[in-house]
Amino acid sequence: MNSYGYFCNTRIEMGIGTAKQLPDLLQSLQIGSSILLVSDPGVVRAGLIAPIQTSLEAAGFRVSLFDSLSQNPRDTECLAGAKIFNENKVDAVVAIGGGSAMDTGKAIALLGPNGGTPTDYVEGRRAYTNIAPIICVPTTAGTGSEVTRSSVITEEATHRKITLKHASLRPILAVLDPELTLTVPPFVTAATGVDALVHAIEGYTCRVTNPISQALGARAMETIVSALPIAYRDGQNQKARYDMLEGSLLAGLCFGSADVAAVHCLAEALGGLYDTPHGVANAVFLPHVLRFNAVVNRSMHADLARYMKFAKDSDTDQAAVEKLIVGIEAFTKALEIPNLKDLPGVREEDFPKIVELAVQNGSTPSNVRPITATDYLQILERAYLGV
Ligand SMILES: [Fe+2]
Repeated sequence: MNSYGYFCNTRIEMGIGTAKQLPDLLQSLQIGSSILLVSDPGVVRAGLIAPIQTSLEAAGFRVSLFDSLSQNPRDTECLAGAKIFNENKVDAVVAIGGGSAMDTGKAIALLGPNGGTPTDYVEGRRAYTNIAPIICVPTTAGTGSEVTRSSVITEEATHRKITLKHASLRPILAVLDPELTLTVPPFVTAATGVDALVHAIEGYTCRVTNPISQALGARAMETIVSALPIAYRDGQNQKARYDMLEGSLLAGLCFGSADVAAVHCLAEALGGLYDTPHGVANAVFLPHVLRFNAVVNRSMHADLARYMKFAKDSDTDQAAVEKLIVGIEAFTKALEIPNLKDLPGVREEDFPKIVELAVQNGSTPSNVRPITATDYLQILERAYLGV
């Protein structure tokens, strides 16, 4: 009988067309009139920002825009955003985009009022206080950052991914409008969707999980596995897009009061070194980490296979675990996610560095099966050779 806590103080507004309610929602929060929109160039080019900016200005908000960020956002970019925050005397940050925009928005809301670098906070030299209100509007179904307390940032100088983590980094409002995800290209739909699935799996299985996270994770797995192949093939399918946004939300709520684990530790190392899209990096390691973990946690992993409908209730745990690995491999293959060997930049001589970064990752102790540098190296080699 473990003790546990579960937190989420984010107001969640989910539904088709909810983005149009953003001005009214912001007014109801009484967060001031100077808004910094944080987005990425792709979302701006897709035309999602202009109508929202216009509607906010028409409602009386003073709006500035920061969109100079990479797909794996860097500390230097957060500092540039914090400068704009201060130049415009910003009251609140509204991040509209995928995980990169939302995580950058969170970092700007921290660095703008308080100064310093992301590393200062991660290493305890500065305190997480006086953070500007954060509002998130996801335009991809994957990260769940709209309801989590974390922000993953790459240190440009070291390629290390660091995680800002504090309850005050949870957005006060998440506006989820599936219409904003209709134009996401298939490759991004697949990669971000697999990221969401990994959040549910790792949030459910990690050592610091709890029954609330597990309930959310189980539902997220079921939803994502049925909706993602449809959203990938037919991006305009509103039902599949709705389900994916809901699935990624549930997965975010699952790991947000628990943790991620070894898949993310390897994926973040890869992303920091090669700028690999986060969901792709997760996908290439997922079956191999599951195979490693399931050896000692068979019944839990058998349950995962049943939630995802890869196995039947009547299957033995051993049969269900085998179906889990095969099912996940077939699932990511159908989404045409490349193998580790085929990813740009990946070199075997970097494996010791990837292992070192993974071991240093704060989520390594959360993996359900204790995992060492040797284990990480074996998983990497298996993923690379495809065995
Ligand atoms: Fe993730």
